[in-house]
Amino acid sequence: MSTFTIDTSTSRATPSPVPGKRTTAPSIRARKVDGTTAEPIVMLTAYTMRMAQLLDPHCDMLLVGDSLGQVIYGLPSTIPVSMEMMCAHGAAVVRGSWHALVAVDMPFGSYEASPARAFESASRIMKETGCAAVKLEGGEAMAPTIEFLAQRGIPVIGHVGLTPQAVNVLGGYGARGREKKEAAKIIRDAVAVDQAGAFCIVVEGVMEDIATKVAKTTGAPIIGIGASAECDGQVLVTEDMLGLFERTPRFVKRYADLAGEIGAAAANYAKEVRARTFPGSDQTYRPKA
Ligand code: KIV
Repeated sequence: MSTFTIDTSTSRATPSPVPGKRTTAPSIRARKVDGTTAEPIVMLTAYTMRMAQLLDPHCDMLLVGDSLGQVIYGLPSTIPVSMEMMCAHGAAVVRGSWHALVAVDMPFGSYEASPARAFESASRIMKETGCAAVKLEGGEAMAPTIEFLAQRGIPVIGHVGLTPQAVNVLGGYGARGREKKEAAKIIRDAVAVDQAGAFCIVVEGVMEDIATKVAKTTGAPIIGIGASAECDGQVLVTEDMLGLFERTPRFVKRYADLAGEIGAAAANYAKEVRARTFPGSDQTYRPKA
């Protein structure tokens, strides 16, 4: 059963006020003309309906990243993230948005074995969530899979450089491409994914000059994270940039201090409950006079 159709009489999600006007994969791809993107593409992660509603007016794309493993579920990495998690959160984000293109990450283990396996997983994600694209990690090795999907009606976002699902092979989350050999490999990966038909490519955690070179080389827009301001667009994990965690990676700019605000609000609430000053008369039902 599809999970994205909403009953507008009971759902608090925002139905699309302008059906059919959602940003499309071809329109994102077309933003890059002759190697440049006049206005950078704005992307943020979203995992819930309400966050999608708040971010949607400001973003070209919303990514239901498998980073939800750590951010929402407290998992140690993205490896244990399941298809069920991605579908449930993907459907919520589609329900909460109407303008941005929603892309959903393919979880580890759901696409690597073969292009046919990837098609099964990607089509399930699209049917169950209503999203317009999927993202998968990997360069040259995944190019045949990306081509297979793209030729069968599935818009794909590539992801090269630091690929968190490969943390056990990479040995950590440090920036990639410090050595010439690895830098050249990242560029080859991006070119292969571009030629395979990805409509845009996330380049994560690489030396700035690699990202800049990749952005100048590929036809598809490059969306940077810990990469370079010269990319065709940028993405961040929303909870990082909102300051929900005390520790954020070096490449994250904190645009708010929500951890501080939430802590202060909770402390205030706790104080008032203990002092019996909440609920006050404004929050209490009494017979009408
Ligand atoms: O899972 C995720 O949120 C991502 C972004 C960090 C690009 O892949």
